[in-house]
Amino acid sequence: MRRLLSPGWISVMGLLLAACGPSPRAAGPGMGMDPGMMSRHMAPLPDEYADRTNPVPADAESVARGKEIYDANCAVCHGAGGWGDGPAAANLNPPPAPIAHTGPMLADAYLFYRVSEGGGFAPFDSAMPAWKEKLNEADRWDVINYVRSLGGGGMMDGGMMGPMMFGGTMMLGWMLLATVLTLGVLAAIVVGIVWLVRGAGGRSLSPRAESPLDVLKRRYAAGELSAEQFEMMKRQLSGE
Ligand code: HEC
Repeated sequence: MRRLLSPGWISVMGLLLAACGPSPRAAGPGMGMDPGMMSRHMAPLPDEYADRTNPVPADAESVARGKEIYDANCAVCHGAGGWGDGPAAANLNPPPAPIAHTGPMLADAYLFYRVSEGGGFAPFDSAMPAWKEKLNEADRWDVINYVRSLGGGGMMDGGMMGPMMFGGTMMLGWMLLATVLTLGVLAAIVVGIVWLVRGAGGRSLSPRAESPLDVLKRRYAAGELSAEQFEMMKRQLSGE
């Protein structure tokens, strides 16, 4: 246990955890990043969307339903993998967002707003269609769950803004590390308690481990037995 908690082990575990985390994806040519994207992400949400949170768990079924909806409706612009490079993307300005990249870090409310209302108005002024007439709410959440699953995957629910994405991944690593350490400390405490209890038990057992001769000697020393009685009983004990 002590070895598990040594600094060497802690750094080894830290390295392992860091290596397991998804690495940030390099920006490729198909990413369709355009200068206005950041300001679009900062656009204030209308009241009716501001508090929306995803009621549909992002389980395998929802993601599978979302993939069907996505392939049929979204891939033509956003690309099969969600990197903004679909066949219809070439002439669009602004270009389709690389939603595999932005989806995992944007909040539920923003994504639901954008999928529902599209981009045919300021500040977006884009070709992004409004889907609220074509897809019911459950469909829209399914496709959002699918889009989120395209990227690094497994970001925290609720989404986070861009610069926090890498920090978020690291934070997950640290949380794991903290969990492992907490478990280690708990195990150490349990082992310690067991050891203490055993130790105390051992001490309380020791008087009973006293040999009959010791008892005799103790009683003689305490004056409970006369010298004769002591000698006699000692002889009896040794079987003479
Ligand atoms: C005709 C092309 C087109 C289609 C089809 C399309 N989009 Fe878009 N979409 C865009 C463009 C262009 C943008 C970027 C400009 C903007 O934000 O309005 C965009 C932006 C978005 C955004 C905002 C992402 C961000 O980073 O701000 C989301 C989410 C989105 N689309 C989801 C979808 C989903 C889901 C579908 C299918 C149900 C879909 N889009 C279909 C063109 C399209």
